[in-house]
Amino acid sequence: LARGVTEPDLKGRHVVVSAGGTREPLDPVRFLGNRSSGKQGYALARTAAARGARVTLIAANSTLPDPAGVDVVPVGTATHLREAVLKAAADADAVVMAAAVADFRPVTYAAGKIKKKDDQEPEPIALVRNPDILAEISTDRVRPGQVIVGFAAETDDVLANGRAKLKRKGCDLLVVNEVGERKTFGSEENEAVVLGTDGSETAVPYGPKEALAETVWDLVAGRLG
Ligand code: CTP
Ligand code: CA
Repeated sequence: LARGVTEPDLKGRHVVVSAGGTREPLDPVRFLGNRSSGKQGYALARTAAARGARVTLIAANSTLPDPAGVDVVPVGTATHLREAVLKAAADADAVVMAAAVADFRPVTYAAGKIKKKDDQEPEPIALVRNPDILAEISTDRVRPGQVIVGFAAETDDVLANGRAKLKRKGCDLLVVNEVGERKTFGSEENEAVVLGTDGSETAVPYGPKEALAETVWDLVAGRLG
């Protein structure tokens, strides 16, 4: 399938895409978050809808407009994201985890705003691990034949880290991209390699996030048969 050409090859399929970045609240006005803009996940949702899929977009703290014809489920924390993904994945043909999920959350949530005290240094923030949603849905496959795709942003040893992560997570495809100061976050463009459990490596040159999205759906459609 040539890039930019839309074919309804996902017609009759239900796909789930998570997008954005989770926020883990410390108190009513503060959170631990990340720099994910949600643009890649939204591009995945738009392109899947254009290819005929029924799309559930689980959107973590994104300010982007809802894509037309897509069922958008807004979520805040990793815990909320997990609940929404597990629910939507139950009847999905494919799940693409493009969201940046916080690895840790504060152990405690202060119901009132945390105040500084005169002449005192702050207390360290105690953290606890969040569940690994991608690993969970990949291990307990609820639907045989479901295609599961993860994303990995790496700063060093991109391919070696990607291969190890693909194995560890147990998903079918892993989209690996290199991140840095100027790269990926908030930008309209992306460059990536999609690793498959079959040993395949599909390089996607620097270009619009839609182009990477189309490649992901090409690979997913090929696996759905
Ligand atoms: N992910 C997830 N649940 C988490 C953390 C990550 O589902 N608690 C998913 C992300 O949505 C992404 C993939 O796992 O699709 C890889 O995320 P990444 O942060 O690169 O992987 P981690 O296993 O958290 O490894 P790292 O220590 O490098 O952050
Ligand atoms: Ca992580």
